Amino acid sequence: MNQLTFVPMTMEDLPEVLRIERESFPNPWSRPMFERDILHNKLARIVTVRTGGTVVGYFSLWKIVDEGHLVTLAVDPARRRQGLGSTILRETLRLAESIGIRKLTLEVRETNRDALRMYVRFGFVKTGVRLKYYEDGADAWIMDLDLTPPHSLGAVS
Ligand SMILES: CC(C)(COP(=O)(O)OP(=O)(O)OC[C@H]1O[C@@H](n2cnc3c(N)ncnc32)[C@H](O)[C@@H]1OP(=O)(O)O)[C@@H](O)C(=O)NCCC(=O)NCCS
Repeated sequence: MNQLTFVPMTMEDLPEVLRIERESFPNPWSRPMFERDILHNKLARIVTVRTGGTVVGYFSLWKIVDEGHLVTLAVDPARRRQGLGSTILRETLRLAESIGIRKLTLEVRETNRDALRMYVRFGFVKTGVRLKYYEDGADAWIMDLDLTPPHSLGAVS
């Protein structure tokens, strides 16, 4: 695999990002939602992941005091099951730690087996359920990861 680069998302990334987003989620983020995190949201670290110049994934991490919220993370469907999702999540956790986040939380669709397996592998634990969280009435699991040492960040392959 070519080397991955992680850089703050820009407006120029949006055509590729929006294509991946639409192919990844039943209720995809709209362009204005990405623009909010790129241009206005001071709490957001929104990052584009490229290999060989091509966008292969992205994530957005919000920091509120010492808590992080992983609000989106996706890999191009054509590039999945090659370790990219895990690499991006590992980088997300490194970023979170480096900016002083002590607990990371996220919501994940309860039927999203691929994402659930990945989060569990990294040590996230289910801490609750948001009933009918999604527009189609599906529930979300709330999952948390404690980033205060000792934790197993470096142990995940
Ligand atoms: C969840 C998601 C990010 C995972 O991305 P990914 O790039 O497929 O993740 P990985 O490749 O690191 O891991 C996926 C699987 O491939 C396996 N894998 C990794 N490298 C592999 C390789 N070279 N050969 C075979 N399998 C491999 C992993 O072991 C893992 O297996 P498991 O699911 O049985 O545990 C991706 O499915 C996605 O973007 N989904 C849609 C968006 C989404 O749901 N985001 C999360 C919202 S909360």
